[in-house]
Amino acid sequence: MKPLRKAVFPVAGLGTRFLPATKAMPKEMLTVVDRPVIQHVADEAREAGLEHFVFVTGRNKNVIEDHFDRMYELEDTLQERGKKPELELLARDLPEAGQTSFTRQQAPLGLGHAVWCARDIVGAEPFALLLPDMLHQARTRPCMAMMVDAYHKNPGNYVAVYEVPENQTHQYGIVGRGKDTAGGGFEITEMIEKPPQGKAPSNLAISGRYILEPEIFKILAKQPRGAGGEIQLTDAMITLAKTRPFYGVTFDGAIHDCGTKIGFLVANAAYALARHDLAPTYRIEMKKLLGG
Ligand code: UTP
Repeated sequence: MKPLRKAVFPVAGLGTRFLPATKAMPKEMLTVVDRPVIQHVADEAREAGLEHFVFVTGRNKNVIEDHFDRMYELEDTLQERGKKPELELLARDLPEAGQTSFTRQQAPLGLGHAVWCARDIVGAEPFALLLPDMLHQARTRPCMAMMVDAYHKNPGNYVAVYEVPENQTHQYGIVGRGKDTAGGGFEITEMIEKPPQGKAPSNLAISGRYILEPEIFKILAKQPRGAGGEIQLTDAMITLAKTRPFYGVTFDGAIHDCGTKIGFLVANAAYALARHDLAPTYRIEMKKLLGG
């Protein structure tokens, strides 16, 4: 089995749904409580044992590179002021030297194209792919850690899925569920992007966490533009599934789509309520706001 070491984060989208906040700042740097969205997702990758982080960035995204680098001036000032907990926090979040790579998607031609831009850095290895917009707040084990466990027991391509209401399946990428596998996942019988209403094979939606074999890059290289004139990852995965095994892992927890305003606001509330240092006061303030 080839080792699974690299995590790819596509962060080159324009974030138009968050204008004007995203005019000069990447949407991946919007904060959920006190950590940028991209940091929450990098934490999930690290907890899964992934070692090398590959960021596919674009214009206006330099601040993401700075976020994952040391900041000497700040560290010196914190040192002088004796701010030990803050220094420890920065040190804990910092990736090891040489374990981040940045490449640019020169134009936002779609998620499939962004993934293809990582091909030289990833090379001939399987890799994890995490969409930073989608925060997976785990009830038990973090999503990518569950997927990596499943991959080690039963290698192949993986997507994480979650249940969505039956009458909303037309808004998602949906998979068909086959037999359970030894690794705690299940075989995927089909994948459909936004099936017409009433035609979905299940209510299991693809959530934004993937483990993909490097064969996907050859398919993406030839992938014509699909829905919205963009190069779609799901189209390439459907082709890959014809020759390679594809499995699903059901995520146990809440998924917050931080690409939408409501998803982002709810994520802030949910993450604040999960924090022992904030939850009691936050609850009181929210009750006041809601008139309760
Ligand atoms: P989205 O389609 O949700 O991101 O892509 P977007 O295009 O930035 O959003 P809006 O609709 O304009 O508000 C999901 C993820 O894929 C990345 C985005 O950065 C986001 O993390 N992406 C998308 C790319 O890296 N490149 C692309 O061409 C498209």
